[in-house]
Order: sequence, then C-alpha cells, then structure tokens
Amino acid sequence: MLCLGIESSCDETALALVCDGRLSAQVLRSQTDLHALFGGVVPELASREHARCIGPLYDLLCRQTGLKAGDLDYVAVARGPGLLGSLLVGVSFAKALALSCGARILAVNHLHAHLLAAGLGGDLLFPALGLLVSGGHTHIYRMDGPRSFTLLGRSIDDAAGEAFDKFGKALGLPYPAGRQIDELASKGVADIRLFPRPYLDNDNLDFSFSGLKTAAVQLAAGRPDLSAKQLVQPGDLILPADKAGQDLADVCASFTLAVAETLRLKLERALKKQAGIKALILAGGVAANSFVRQGIRTLADARGLPLLLPEPDLCTDNAAMIAYAGWLLAGLGQRHELDFRSVPRGQKIPEDALGQD
Ligand code: KG4
Ligand code: ZN
Repeated sequence: MLCLGIESSCDETALALVCDGRLSAQVLRSQTDLHALFGGVVPELASREHARCIGPLYDLLCRQTGLKAGDLDYVAVARGPGLLGSLLVGVSFAKALALSCGARILAVNHLHAHLLAAGLGGDLLFPALGLLVSGGHTHIYRMDGPRSFTLLGRSIDDAAGEAFDKFGKALGLPYPAGRQIDELASKGVADIRLFPRPYLDNDNLDFSFSGLKTAAVQLAAGRPDLSAKQLVQPGDLILPADKAGQDLADVCASFTLAVAETLRLKLERALKKQAGIKALILAGGVAANSFVRQGIRTLADARGLPLLLPEPDLCTDNAAMIAYAGWLLAGLGQRHELDFRSVPRGQKIPEDALGQD
C-alpha cells in the first residue's frame, strides 16, 4: 500500500512516501532562514512559502521516484494542530490531489504522528508512554494503539522548545536556538544549582517551563559577556577557548540539563502511575537534544523498557511521520471524507474518521 504524506503545519513544507510501512522517499523545504530574520515564525509568510513550494516539491518527489498520481492508494495530510493558514495549504493540496487521482484521504493529527514515527525505526509496542517535546507542546500520552491516545500531562504555559528558543534569543543565537544550545552544552560542564527543575513539587504530570525560561533569560541579560552572537558562523558554531566561551558552554549545559532532568522525572512519575507499560517513545524537535535523549535512555534502561527514539531528522517536523501514521491508520480501515477541516492550535481535533469503531 502506497501512502503519500503531506506536512505544512508550521514552517516546514514536506512530502514523503511510505510503501508497505517503509519510508521510500521524502522531500522537505525548511523556512527556518526566512523566519530567523524575524526571531520567530511569521504566520503570513509561512503560508505564502508553503503555497509557493508545495507544487514544485510534489513535482520533485515525482521526478525522484517515478511516482505517478494514479499509483497512490492514500494521501495523508497533517490537519492540525498548527498555524491555520499553513495547514490550509497542505490540506487543500491533499484534497485536490486525492480527488483528482482517486486516492483515499486521511487527516492526521500532527502530534500523534510525531510519536507514531518511532515505528519507522523499530516495532511499536502498546501500551506505550509517549513524551512529545516540541516548540509548541510538551505532552505525555498513554498510547494504547495507533489511534488510541490519552493525554496524561501537558505544559501549563511554555513548551520546552519555547524555553530553548527564548533563552537562545537572549544569548544572541538565531531562531530556532535549540540545536545550537545543544551543541554549546555538549562542550560545557553543568552546574546543577544554577537552574531549578521546575514544577516538580506536586503530584501531577504537567509541565511549566516559563519560570525556567525567565530565569535563563534574566541570567543572560545580566551577563552580556555570554553573548553567542559573534560565535555564529554560517551553519556552524565556533566556541572561543577563553573563559567567556567556557562560561557560555557551562550555562547552556546547566540549562539543558535542567530541562532534560525535568522531562525525565515527570516521565518516571508517569511510569509509576500507569500499569502495564511496555515501551517508551520520545519525539518532537526537542527529542533531538542529546541531554534529553540520554536522560530518557537512562530511565528506559533502569526500567528494562525498550525506548523508541526517531532519528534526529525524524524528530523535527517532517512528512515521513505523516505518511507513516497515515499508513498505520489506513491499515486499521480508517479514512476521511473530503470535507474534514483543518484544526488550528488550541482547538480540539474531532474524531471524525470513517471506519472508526
Ligand atoms: O517538532 P518541531 O520541529 O516543531 C514544532 O514545534 O512542532 O520542534 C521545534 C523545536 C524548536 O523549539 C527547536 O529549538 C527545538 O525543537 N529543537 C531542539 C533541538 N533541535 C530542535 N531543542 C533542543 N535541542 C535540540 N537539539
Ligand atoms: Zn511538530
């Protein structure tokens, strides 16, 4: 079964093909450089870029793979949550394509797809605990199957990725700063007293990263010598071998460890509360972080649980996860009518698939 996946929920336009559960091709155009000029994603520019790029990207995928529209069994598309104007571009393209070539269409939850993408690298086991950590979300789910997700905990304010990006901005790093903070942190030594492990003094599975974000931004504001501005070369970071350079790396390590430990401790708490968990899944852009990966790996090993961890390029937004989630859901007999709607961030995604029990 051949499933085309389309992703356009934020600032990546991407298409991918999954054939019988395997990723066979993907094309992606990131808008990061454009939005970096403004220090964050500008929704109007994002939708214009999606509209400009999606057709040529589809043509490229066809040229690379020899795909003809008539070959497609399913078109799966991210329907939300995301930026409405951006989602509408991908969803309209998907609907037009499915209608013209007679393929079935599937509207995919972008957040669920992040976690299901782990199945591209190893067998999904259920029930699993899924930790999704991105620029907009920090969610813990109990996953009882590809379409059975129960939200156990979420960020009550900023997502972990937001804290990385704002701290990075205060240090003079370009948006999004998570990957570069990770790179700096790997050259530093963490001081565990520098930042709190936020919102642990309770009994719940929710997160709050706004206090940690503010503490880090204030620290950066009070230490202009920590500016990373001059370190950013095109595509690279060069850390000077002086005290300011080492201090910068140490502060990044301290911050990153605070985030990673908080995520680990809450996931550990979730494991204690949930019976019968057979695997852990980590996904979303922040799942590319080396400290976060290490922390969750340590937890999984201590509990003797398999950890499913997508490759870093499948952690950030991509269409392989949409195509794969579509393939899984299609295998369960699911599909949508052409009138499903795109769902912006903050609104509930309806359970409106056909073929649901
Ligand atoms: O999942 P994603 O690509 O987009 C959504 O937000 O849906 O996640 C983007 C977020 C950004 O905040 C970015 O700074 C963060 O993931 N990120 C990282 C790393 N790579 C990306 N944060 C920490 N360490 C990284 N290596
Ligand atoms: Zn995402």
